[in-house]
Amino acid sequence: MKTIISPSILGGSFSNMEKIISDLDESRAEYIHFDVMDGDFVPNLTFGPQFISDLRLKTKKIFDVHLMIRRVNNFLDKYVEAGSNIITFHHEIDENLNDLIYKIKKLNIKAGIAIKPKTHWEEIKKYLHTVDQVIVMTVEPGFSGQSFMVDQITKIKDISQYIKENNLDVNIEIDGGINYETGKLCLDAGANILVAGSFLFEQENLISATNKLNDFFN
Ligand code: DX5
Ligand code: ZN
Repeated sequence: MKTIISPSILGGSFSNMEKIISDLDESRAEYIHFDVMDGDFVPNLTFGPQFISDLRLKTKKIFDVHLMIRRVNNFLDKYVEAGSNIITFHHEIDENLNDLIYKIKKLNIKAGIAIKPKTHWEEIKKYLHTVDQVIVMTVEPGFSGQSFMVDQITKIKDISQYIKENNLDVNIEIDGGINYETGKLCLDAGANILVAGSFLFEQENLISATNKLNDFFN
């Protein structure tokens, strides 16, 4: 199975975003991962819809938008209009998740559901029948550069098994602490999309670092 790399621009310098997007556009990564934070669901603040719509003009890559915000319903239309191709919200918010999935899909983009490390995978079981992707967090959401939580591997295996048993068409994306070694563990457990932030940005050349990670798994 093909592995998709979704570089997370949170790992880069915010003063350099135009160049980062143009480098990623040139790379073989299929997605670009945007970590949207509201300072409430997670203790950090990041990208509003305008940020995404401005960068939308610079590339045709798939925008993989990870909403770590509590009020998804209030902002959904804005993030869709900004040019998101996939919108993933968190299971741990207090909104009607079926309504959100329905709304996203009706707008003709892909819907995803994300779970934090402490959330049991069975809590999202029923949503796996309607979403396009699940994000398994392998760090506590909020910041780039944290260490991979290896105890999440069992969760990836369980979700993957459930998806296979039920013949579902759902991608499994892993977010947090990805490098060659941890990425391999995730793929062996059944994942097929890897988010990578600090691992790519710590290297000298973003394009070659991204291509190397992509080619290592493909
Ligand atoms: C964390 C974010 C991640 C983060 C990953 O809240 O969801 O996407 O940018 O960064 P690394 O790869 O550095 O763990
Ligand atoms: Zn993310």
